[in-house]
Amino acid sequence: MLSFALALVGILAPVGSYASDPGPSACANITSQLGSSKVVNNRFSLKYHESTEYWSTPQGDHKPACIVYPTTSKDVSTILQSVRAADSRFAVKGGGHNPNDFFSSTDKGVLIDLSKLNKKSYDSETTLATYEPGGVFGNIYEYFEQFNRTVVGARLSGVGTGLALGGGMSYLSPQYGMACDSFRELEIVLPNGTIVTASNTTNTDLFFASRGGGGNAYGIVTKYTVQSRPIGEFWSGNLIYAFPQKDTVADAIGDFIQYNTDPKAAIIGTYEKLPTPDINLNLDEIIIMFLVYDGPDPGTAFDNFTSIPHLLDTSKIRSYPEVVDMPIPVATEISRGNNIFRVGVHYADNDEYKFALDKWRAWGEEHKGKYLLLSLDYQPVPKSLTDASKAQGGNAMDMPDGPWFWLNYLLTTPPGMSKTAVDAVRSSFRDMVESTGNAEGLPLFINDASADQHPLSTFSTYSRLQEIKQKYDPDNFFADKTGGWSFE
Ligand SMILES: Cc1cc2nc3c(=O)[nH]c(=O)nc-3n(C[C@H](O)[C@H](O)[C@H](O)COP(=O)(O)OP(=O)(O)OC[C@H]3O[C@@H](n4cnc5c(N)ncnc54)[C@H](O)[C@@H]3O)c2cc1C
Ligand SMILES: *[C@@H]1O[C@H](CO)[C@@H](O)[C@H](O)[C@H]1NC(C)=O
Ligand SMILES: *[C@@H]1O[C@H](CO)[C@@H](O)[C@H](O)[C@H]1NC(C)=O
Ligand SMILES: *[C@@H]1O[C@H](CO)[C@@H](O)[C@H](O)[C@H]1NC(C)=O
Ligand SMILES: *[C@@H]1O[C@H](CO)[C@@H](O)[C@H](O)[C@H]1NC(C)=O
Ligand SMILES: *[C@@H]1O[C@H](CO)[C@@H](O)[C@H](O)[C@H]1NC(C)=O
Repeated sequence: MLSFALALVGILAPVGSYASDPGPSACANITSQLGSSKVVNNRFSLKYHESTEYWSTPQGDHKPACIVYPTTSKDVSTILQSVRAADSRFAVKGGGHNPNDFFSSTDKGVLIDLSKLNKKSYDSETTLATYEPGGVFGNIYEYFEQFNRTVVGARLSGVGTGLALGGGMSYLSPQYGMACDSFRELEIVLPNGTIVTASNTTNTDLFFASRGGGGNAYGIVTKYTVQSRPIGEFWSGNLIYAFPQKDTVADAIGDFIQYNTDPKAAIIGTYEKLPTPDINLNLDEIIIMFLVYDGPDPGTAFDNFTSIPHLLDTSKIRSYPEVVDMPIPVATEISRGNNIFRVGVHYADNDEYKFALDKWRAWGEEHKGKYLLLSLDYQPVPKSLTDASKAQGGNAMDMPDGPWFWLNYLLTTPPGMSKTAVDAVRSSFRDMVESTGNAEGLPLFINDASADQHPLSTFSTYSRLQEIKQKYDPDNFFADKTGGWSFE
């Protein structure tokens, strides 16, 4: 009985300390200024539940004091000033796909859910498009399709716009550069609540840093004005190969990275290890190629892949929204779980593409039962991409001339695994990735990086980014009160 009473006191105690509790007091202030329709406090409501869903599911265990849904940049400004006045923690959530803890989630702080900031427009005169940060790229592409245009963004429809602030790799990148290279003007709410415009003529330093220098660092972007791109029909599909083709496909990927010169041709080469036992039949590994051509006829661009015997070929003509629903429309949802990413970067004029694959496979075989899914994705960065980036002013990565490639490593641990066991398998996974080495002088892709990889420090522009961070976040409000990439 006594313990019951004590427990009850423990549950009620936070109510007593309400006023001095930073999260709830920021929430009360925000509610008094924006009205209760833009704030959700009830943990058991559907909206609260939806807003705390993440691609990396454990982030959903963090319980914000409230969730706020700004609809204007002025709302965002008010929210930041209130969070600051209460000295609360906070998080900014776009599509919720960043797997690093606290990057878009917060425990007891204010969760700023950008989903209601979702206006879009197209100007046929200038061919510029605007989109706000809410929603996912699938919705954004569907909107611009009515004009036969698109914007450079995600390769899967379910991913959010935070992607563009991390650079953003698209199927169109070999033609037009990274998503951030198409930025022409950004509306940004600075950490002190001031609303500014950043472009190549105003706040040029902020514009530079926002092009691939990471979200959640220099302020909150409330509107993107970008160069739109024409779209028509795409030849595209997935080719699936069984284990015996592993080396032939790896060689074809290596050749494509080095030799393909058609910028309309894009690939992702993915190796997947499944939890099924490997009874020496190698049924636990498959290879899925994503082949995408901007136009109805790929010519010979993919011959090196189509000529290898495969189990399945889904290639056909697709619209752009259909292309980003390959292999299946709900890919981002069904791949939710206890996920982490790591990234590597390499040149292809040696055997590094095979070396990393061998290490990855050996690790996968040694750690059977400790993962639900293990995947390794090859993402080529051709010279046409780095040229297109430079032609538009370059980005925060200051990408050296292609060809080179990023490797994205995904580890999904099984549900129910203890935290100690998860930590152990992750640290062993980290050691495996680190053992592959990275090419000197090439940037790690922050969209695929683990926070402990400290990707910004691999950019040749790092000291400039540190200065810009210092200028726009002078009292470390973002640095101290929300998650994000390290500048130290
Ligand atoms: C299934 C899957 C597919 C992917 N495919 C691609 C791909 O094709 N190309 C690619 O480049 N990357 C890809 N990624 C990586 C992806 O770009 C990153 O995970 C990115 O962080 C996702 O952005 P988000 O808005 O969905 O996530 P969030 O976690 O909501 O946001 C990411 C970070 O940006 C910050 N942020 C978001 N919006 C703003 C804003 N308006 N202002 C300031 N900060 C902001 C957030 O605070 C957070 O720290 C993929 C990831 C997954 C899980
Ligand atoms: C409420 O927020 C505003 C900024 O939006 C701030 O100026 C004010 O001091 C805050 N009030 C309290 C009690 O924190
Ligand atoms: C888009 O392209 C289709 C097919 O070529 C064409 O019929 C349609 O008129 C175009 N729409 C616009 C707005 O240009
Ligand atoms: C700024 O960008 C525009 C394209 O939007 C380009 O025409 C112009 O040359 C750029 N100016 C500078 C100073 O880089
Ligand atoms: C296909 O592979 C051959 C080597 O087998 C290579 O010479 C050629 O450049 C490759 N083509 C493409 C588009 O990757
Ligand atoms: C807000 O921050 C910017 C950039 O650091 C600075 O130029 C501006 O003066 C600040 N505004 C206020 C009101 O403090």
